[in-house]
Amino acid sequence: MKFIGRIGDGSTETYARVILLKDIEREIKAEELVLIKNGGEENPVNEIVGVLREGLGKNEFLSHNAYRPDVAYLKHGGQPSGAREVYSFRVMPIGVKGTNGFEPNKLIIAPRSPVYLFEDNDNPLELLARNIKEPEYLDAYLEGHEGWLVPVLKDYIPYHVGIFGSTGSGKSWLARYVLMEFYKKCGYDVLILDWSGTDYVPYFRENVVPITEIALDEESIFAYLQDLSYKFGDNATIRDAFDEFIEKWRERVNEAGGDYNKLYKTLKANIETMIESIQRSDWKENARRACRRVFRKIKPEDLIPLMGTITISEIIKKLREEHVLVIDMSGAMVESKLGFFLSLSAEIYRTMDTGQDVKIAMIIDEAPQYAPWDPKGIQAQTSEMIKNLAALGRKRKFNLTLISQGIKGEIGINAAVRRNLNTYFIGRIHPLDATGEGGASEWLSPYGIRPEQLLQLKPGRFYFAGIMNPSPVPLLLTFTPR
Ligand SMILES: Nc1ncnc2c1ncn2[C@@H]1O[C@H](COP(=O)(O)OP(=O)(O)OP(=O)(O)O)[C@@H](O)[C@H]1O
Ligand SMILES: [Mg+2]
Repeated sequence: MKFIGRIGDGSTETYARVILLKDIEREIKAEELVLIKNGGEENPVNEIVGVLREGLGKNEFLSHNAYRPDVAYLKHGGQPSGAREVYSFRVMPIGVKGTNGFEPNKLIIAPRSPVYLFEDNDNPLELLARNIKEPEYLDAYLEGHEGWLVPVLKDYIPYHVGIFGSTGSGKSWLARYVLMEFYKKCGYDVLILDWSGTDYVPYFRENVVPITEIALDEESIFAYLQDLSYKFGDNATIRDAFDEFIEKWRERVNEAGGDYNKLYKTLKANIETMIESIQRSDWKENARRACRRVFRKIKPEDLIPLMGTITISEIIKKLREEHVLVIDMSGAMVESKLGFFLSLSAEIYRTMDTGQDVKIAMIIDEAPQYAPWDPKGIQAQTSEMIKNLAALGRKRKFNLTLISQGIKGEIGINAAVRRNLNTYFIGRIHPLDATGEGGASEWLSPYGIRPEQLLQLKPGRFYFAGIMNPSPVPLLLTFTPR
């Protein structure tokens, strides 16, 4: 431990500023952890661990809006005296050091109390781990101290996780290097949905299933075709005809020998036969027109994503055998990706509904694709599904890890879904998230983290906040990719 300064005027039980010793400001950075011996080094009433934030340099004689002799001297090229300069940091208390880890501080932090910096060999995070029954650690550390691994409360894994940060902030890497390993260590099988097939697929060649090889369930096929054809041209006969055809979808795929052109022809012929059986001529004419519209919208190649034969239960089986599975969702249209997600989730939901613990962590990259702020069409269904999975998952050991560039608004995740995430990793944010209700700054500024700091974080740096973090104050962590 190194003595770095003393608490200044105006402290409360939650607020204190440390005035730094001479020249210490040159070596001390924000986000370092410190210990306050509250009341003096001899007989402290308690010892408070805190994190340094909101650095400030003061020299009242250099006020930029008043004309003073020092300012005049400066204007003419002189170097004013630094003798009256004061450097300080705010100390955000994490807790009082107790025999069983940390407790909240309820005593006023005394001005004049000495403040010490934790150095590499006195790991303060060990204190955080002390009141956890079975402490588990992320393979991530406090920025600047590689040996200080971050302890977590693993019981809160099923309370769901959000990873936020603008493009290139390191979200996918955090998920891959840190969270995935952590979930595995805690006995969860990890299912990753790789929206574009670029973030995870290249790293898991053995454990990848392409979405194009997966069979969709009837509802998803129906929803997909319905979306494509603008509700089947708004014609009840055509909708019924599709419904009937979809009932025997897998049979039809097999009959066509996996050839989508052949399947398309059969489908079209079937629908047309149905229309020709309509008695009333004006209805028939109506249906014919709608049919032409529908088949202008649905092209043979749109059926490619519907040609798969691997079933959802086979996927779950594979996940159980290999413990990690990546679904490569590239090469399919948005509707079919979401359709697949619905089938997969429905299966997991059913298992949970029967009262079984599933022990699955589902990592959803590009989460706004599934649950945007203003969901329409099939996205309304996927948003609802995620919400339901989240609610039931809490009781059935199911984790959702949603990754998104933004938190709120147009670039963010649907508010109803977001409310179910209780642990947050927030990296460099998008300026749209820097202000306003529900954004990153609203989450973090009560802890002395300013929006401009969030805008400048380097890749792979994340503030870790929420229920899984044993520290009540968000901590800045990073990790070394291996
Ligand atoms: N811990 C780290 N240390 C050093 N560099 C890192 C770290 N994490 C990520 N990076 C760098 O950041 C880059 C972007 O990471 P990543 O692909 O995870 O970003 P992303 O947030 O998922 O972006 P997008 O939203 O575009 O998918 C990586 O290619 C890597 O160079
Ligand atoms: Mg990514």
